[in-house]
Amino acid sequence: MKPIRPGQPRKGSGRDGPGRNGPGRVRPGDRPKLRVMTTTLWEYPSQHYDSATSGGQVGSTMQGDKAYAGATPSWVIWQCLTRYTREGDVIVDPMCGSGTTLDVCADLNRKGVGFDLAPTRDEITQADARELPLDNACADFFFMDPPYSTHIDYSDDPRCIGKLDAGEQGKPDGDGPVVMGEAYYVAMEEVIAEMERVLRPGRYGAIYVSDSFKKTKGRKGGTFMPIGFELYAIARDYMEPVDIISVVRHNAKLQRGNWHKAAEEQNFFLRGFNYLMLFRKPK
Ligand SMILES: C[S@@+](CC[C@H](N)C(=O)[O-])C[C@H]1O[C@@H](n2cnc3c(N)ncnc32)[C@H](O)[C@@H]1O
Repeated sequence: MKPIRPGQPRKGSGRDGPGRNGPGRVRPGDRPKLRVMTTTLWEYPSQHYDSATSGGQVGSTMQGDKAYAGATPSWVIWQCLTRYTREGDVIVDPMCGSGTTLDVCADLNRKGVGFDLAPTRDEITQADARELPLDNACADFFFMDPPYSTHIDYSDDPRCIGKLDAGEQGKPDGDGPVVMGEAYYVAMEEVIAEMERVLRPGRYGAIYVSDSFKKTKGRKGGTFMPIGFELYAIARDYMEPVDIISVVRHNAKLQRGNWHKAAEEQNFFLRGFNYLMLFRKPK
């Protein structure tokens, strides 16, 4: 599949628009009021929530940019910040994309600090998530939604982690065993280490991520990339595990009949959920 570019999305490229497996289409103004979720299965019928003040704009119905390919559902960030942070807290997003985290922070009176290799807004500072211009232990929470392997072409920057294939088979030690996605996981470990460095002891952080499946062209089967499990295992070496939430995806691609037909006939699964992985830096 050809990668898509942020800002030039395919229809329904946001990560949580209404879809076939979830409730019907909900329009701004009709969205249910957000309440703190209490189980490990999260679902909401829209990518965004209605807010009186989102992004500093009265009556805004969007946080970040729904046209940005790969934008995070803002209500997921709202859940995290409402549960784990207080007004005035500093929230770091090292891969800020369209700035969804910054808008939710503005909405909830938190101080959002956003970075990205390819900033889309003035408030986002250009930096590599593996080396942020931040002091140690300066953040009260981190939220990150990294690339899930190579399916979106975020920028031309060679440092973009979205250029690293989590399904690539290689032998990093010459004659050693075949390892899958070595470069992707090494890069992500550096980002996780950086998050641990900037987080205050005793404070929390979240990684929002999906597994990936790359179909082999023209025939059955493909490569499954268990990105969620791999990243959780890596992050456990740096922080305490707190929980794992399964977030139902309503991506519009899940509405396409031909995708379901292919999944059935060619014996693979479409991604129906994202992981929200929660961690705490030990005191
Ligand atoms: C899934 S998008 C983030 C979406 C964002 N949360 C939003 O709601 O718009 C992943 C982002 O990671 C950025 N990225 C990839 N590699 C990076 C790196 N090494 N350092 C900083 N940002 C990086 C990409 O430019 C892209 O904007």
